[in-house]
Amino acid sequence: MTVFGGGTPQGEEAEAWAAARAAFARFDAADRILFSVPMWNSGVPYVLKQFVDVVTQPGWVFGVDPVTGYQHLLRGRGKGAAVIYTSAVWGPGLGPEFGADFQAPFFTGRLGWTGIDDVTEIRFHPTLPGDAGETGRIAAEAARDTAKTF
Ligand SMILES: Cc1cc2nc3c(=O)[nH]c(=O)nc-3n(C[C@H](O)[C@H](O)[C@H](O)COP(=O)(O)O)c2cc1C
Repeated sequence: MTVFGGGTPQGEEAEAWAAARAAFARFDAADRILFSVPMWNSGVPYVLKQFVDVVTQPGWVFGVDPVTGYQHLLRGRGKGAAVIYTSAVWGPGLGPEFGADFQAPFFTGRLGWTGIDDVTEIRFHPTLPGDAGETGRIAAEAARDTAKTF
């Protein structure tokens, strides 16, 4: 928020900012990015949420204009992402008694917001009564197909 407010981080803040910059640089160096995202308590694992919070910084991932709003700085950079979404209980088409989905809506939403709009999803949601073997075979095939052109 120091940088967001137009300031320059000092001392410990400067060290934290440099570490965040290094994490962003590694992310930004990749043209193709693969994310493996298990559902944790309807959302994503906290380490992934932390990664989003670290790299999503003004001037790196987004710009903001008080009148026109956000700019998405990774747009048009030729970047693509593949995301593997998995869960064990929840699955598309199941009712709320099997949980809710804040996993893909959050993460695909955040990816799109960076400006990376070439995103492929691979899904493995065996569900409790489902056939994990067959569902897994279909997911692995989808992963192989995606890899051919990724
Ligand atoms: C902390 C934690 C929370 C989880 N929460 C959910 C959940 O809310 N819904 C669900 O369907 N599966 C949930 N799971 C199951 C994982 O989504 C499942 O194990 C994962 O997708 C498969 O990856 P794995 O082989 O690495 O475990 C949870 C697992 C863990 C460890």
